[in-house]
Amino acid sequence: MYIRVLGSAAGGGFPQWNCNCPNCRQVRAGSPHHQRRTQSSIAVSADGTRWTLVNASPDILQQFQLFPGTWPKEGLRGCGIESIVLVDAQIDHTTGLYMLREKGSPWPVWCTDPVFEDLTRGNPILHLLEHYCGVARRDLPGNGASFHPEGSESLDWRALPLLSAAPPYSPHRNNPVSGDNVGLLIRDPASGKRVFYAPGLAEVDDAVFDAMAGSDCVMVDGTFWTDDEMIALGLSTKRARDIGHLAQSGPGGMIEQLGRLPRHVRRVLIHINNTNPILDDSSAQRAILAAAGIEVAFDGMEIAL
Ligand code: MLT
Ligand code: MN
Ligand code: ZN
Repeated sequence: MYIRVLGSAAGGGFPQWNCNCPNCRQVRAGSPHHQRRTQSSIAVSADGTRWTLVNASPDILQQFQLFPGTWPKEGLRGCGIESIVLVDAQIDHTTGLYMLREKGSPWPVWCTDPVFEDLTRGNPILHLLEHYCGVARRDLPGNGASFHPEGSESLDWRALPLLSAAPPYSPHRNNPVSGDNVGLLIRDPASGKRVFYAPGLAEVDDAVFDAMAGSDCVMVDGTFWTDDEMIALGLSTKRARDIGHLAQSGPGGMIEQLGRLPRHVRRVLIHINNTNPILDDSSAQRAILAAAGIEVAFDGMEIAL
């Protein structure tokens, strides 16, 4: 199985257009220790030729231009991506759908019922696309049953309900329902290898931990270093956990959770917010990750399992 990181940043990207935090300032100034990143998305393939997109980022056109796997191969129109899986209804994971409207037939879009509700009510993008290519909605089972998205049918995909957060526009922003956010456990029957992907994760419960521990590679929430990161910078009044993200540092944080995994599991942080000090590869925080065997995803990263 092949995984290509199309976008490794959280919502806003890196640098974020209106942000003058130390990281955003330094990447604009050309610091060799800071690397630009686009918003959250990966592509998954069983054979390296046919792909399933996971999340449609607002930066999708730029991401496709940099990834030949998406380019048309034959005929006048085409795309290496055959279907789209959505882990939630957040803006950074869905607004790229607008940019894919030129397709000549409906896009297969896999999502849970709560995500489908948000994407047909608060943010009715799936309805709007009916005026363009249309959408063939596929039911993404939130109960762990396997599903087989187009482009990577031979892989065994399963979704786990996560404790995270629905988008601010959702009627269930403050009263979560199961399926607002899911993590993906993808297994390649050919190799027996598994990856777990969860860019938004507020709590590692037993089911999530078991999924992570049974994986060969985990790609998990790398949004914030500290729970009060946005508060400390004066950018928000909300804690990381309040908006659906478990911070890396501190008791019970992501570093501690990843430290409980079996040694052979590859650990990758993804969906990194522009305020996170780990975006400076010369930072003390980055050295702590390195010592813990934790990698930081970057745009264009490729993982073969
Ligand atoms: C999140 O991951 O918390 C959201 O995507 C934030 C956003 O809307 O940009
Ligand atoms: Mn996000
Ligand atoms: Zn910033």
